[in-house]
Amino acid sequence: MKHKPIIIANWKMNKSNSEALYYLETLKQYPKELQKAIIIIAVPFTALSDMHKAISRINTKDIKLISLAAQNMHQEKAGAFTGEVSCKMIKEAGCEYVIIGHSERRQYCNETNDLINKKLKYALDNDIIPILCIGETLEQRNNKNFLKYITVQLKECLAGIKASDARRMIISYEPIWAIGTGKNASPQQAEEMHAFIKNFILQNYTKKIADEIRITYGGSVNENNISLYLHMLDINGVLIGGASLDVETFVRIIGNSTKYNK
Ligand code: PGA
Repeated sequence: MKHKPIIIANWKMNKSNSEALYYLETLKQYPKELQKAIIIIAVPFTALSDMHKAISRINTKDIKLISLAAQNMHQEKAGAFTGEVSCKMIKEAGCEYVIIGHSERRQYCNETNDLINKKLKYALDNDIIPILCIGETLEQRNNKNFLKYITVQLKECLAGIKASDARRMIISYEPIWAIGTGKNASPQQAEEMHAFIKNFILQNYTKKIADEIRITYGGSVNENNISLYLHMLDINGVLIGGASLDVETFVRIIGNSTKYNK
């Protein structure tokens, strides 16, 4: 039996603190929907602290409806890194998760697999669950060398990460050509890659860890296609950018996560 799906909203550089709190005011009116999935919201740094306080009033001791994620963190503990935010800072602000290595950071901030590997280790050492993003470009897919590329990403990003740590992570497969383009990977294409990633974990760790590790798909997920992904054997959840920004749409996405009719 499949576990509750993971639904990650990645707001990217959208929503000020007050806009974030306003969104949450609406979202909290749907507790039944929120219980259908593990809901993780990745908000800008400036909204983390207040969102954490507001979320703490929504979650109860027994039922956690929403968890908070940062969209990035620095790989060093502290120091002269103007403009950066540390792991300790996001943890104190209430984050349980952090997105690491999103393709937009790889592209615009030159993040390399080596740097991402350092961030992953630092987050895991400090009990923050990293959501590692990997995925190929359209060119790589068309050239048919994307499996090799994904293997290198996995090898370099996970280098030296112990089995006990790897099992706690979330890996998000996000083909770059599907992010923000409306051209989502087909559920079959995504499933094929998720199975490939699971097999990599099996080869490099153990079967148990391959069974336990959670792999989400990201790239133009919306209210109409979410259930098609979640129906696939190796897809444990989704990461949603654009379609998560409107709260009513996000509620419908969550609602549709359990409706498979095909
Ligand atoms: P999108 O973004 O849902 O807007 O395509 C996905 C992502 O950030 O990975």
